[in-house]
Amino acid sequence: MKDAHGRTIDYLRISLTDRCNFRCIYCMPDEGVAQLSHSDILRMEEIERLVAVAAKLGVRKIRLTGGEPLVRKGVVGLVEKISATEGIDNVSITTNGVLLPSMVDDLKAAGLSRVNISLDTLDEEQFKMITRCGQLETTMAGIEAALSAGLDPVKINCVAVKSLNQDFLGFAKMTIDRPLHVRFIEYMPVGKSAGADGTGWGKRDVIPSEELLGIINQRAVAEGMEPLQPAGEKRPEGWGPARYFQFPGAKGTVGFISPLSRHFCGECNRLRLTAEGKVRPCLFSDEEYDVREALRNGSDADVEAVLLAALGAKPDEHHNKVGTERRMSQIGG
Ligand code: GTP
Ligand code: 5AD
Ligand code: SF4
Repeated sequence: MKDAHGRTIDYLRISLTDRCNFRCIYCMPDEGVAQLSHSDILRMEEIERLVAVAAKLGVRKIRLTGGEPLVRKGVVGLVEKISATEGIDNVSITTNGVLLPSMVDDLKAAGLSRVNISLDTLDEEQFKMITRCGQLETTMAGIEAALSAGLDPVKINCVAVKSLNQDFLGFAKMTIDRPLHVRFIEYMPVGKSAGADGTGWGKRDVIPSEELLGIINQRAVAEGMEPLQPAGEKRPEGWGPARYFQFPGAKGTVGFISPLSRHFCGECNRLRLTAEGKVRPCLFSDEEYDVREALRNGSDADVEAVLLAALGAKPDEHHNKVGTERRMSQIGG
């Protein structure tokens, strides 16, 4: 389907829950977010139906997000149903990786195409600090499990926050010997009171991608390595906005996602669905279209009408009016 600005929209990001087994400081308040009641969140059958309607409109790719999507009961069955839906050719998950060792084989058998795993630091103590309740080794085990299961590509998402994580070359080096694709993401103002230190997002904490590329190359060269080169054809499969680079001869790539310094709205290809059934035309706009009512009491044509209304409301770009009321854990990234 095409939006009012001529962009093809074929990608739907579905948040399955706003719950999470971590509480990353920039994503959730310490106490967690107000829990949605069971009847508020879409049932798996409702999501399956919405996907079938979206596929008829031209959606081809589904990404399951959260909170942490793997804490939602029935996720393996949902992957199976979505991947069997006519028209859907790719189903992926963005996860913190903790539950992958126990679930990845079943997910793969159910038709999961690939995973993106969130990891912001390689330092054990800092990992505990950022996630508030996580352990580095559990996410690392998730990465290993995804590789062993043969999922390809396996991507790592690292949100770069100036006052927090620093070992960017360490991250980039993970791509040399293994087919891992590390992406550095500019820290976005999502969720009013979110922030690296709990006091709110601040521009001071954003590291523009160009600057980060320079930092990594400078450190690499200081260690006698060759600098990153554009990855060209070697860029991993994906439909997101990352720009990819590679160390010469490396098995994986290093990507940069730059929503603030080099916005990619012109190539935007997506709609978002929140766990309680709101369709969001844009990550940075709190305009939402309720599809739950149509799913519970309406026909497929009613569901389609809500999707088309959200499609019609997609802004041409965020015009630097970035920021949202909702937290990232409530939108799904
Ligand atoms: P690939 O298909 O693997 O490239 O996935 P992706 O990059 O689309 O998805 P992922 O869930 O891994 O998201 C990576 C980062 O990109 C997260 O920080 C998202 O919030 C951000 N992101 C994804 N879509 C958008 C978008 O439409 N606008 C903005 N500003 N950021 C986005
Ligand atoms: N800015 C950029 N990325 C973020 N993520 C969570 N919060 C932010 C933010 N404020 C990332 C997560 C996950 C992806 C869906 O979004 O780390 O990898
Ligand atoms: Fe959970 Fe992801 Fe938020 Fe961390 S960033 S608390 S893993 S939803």
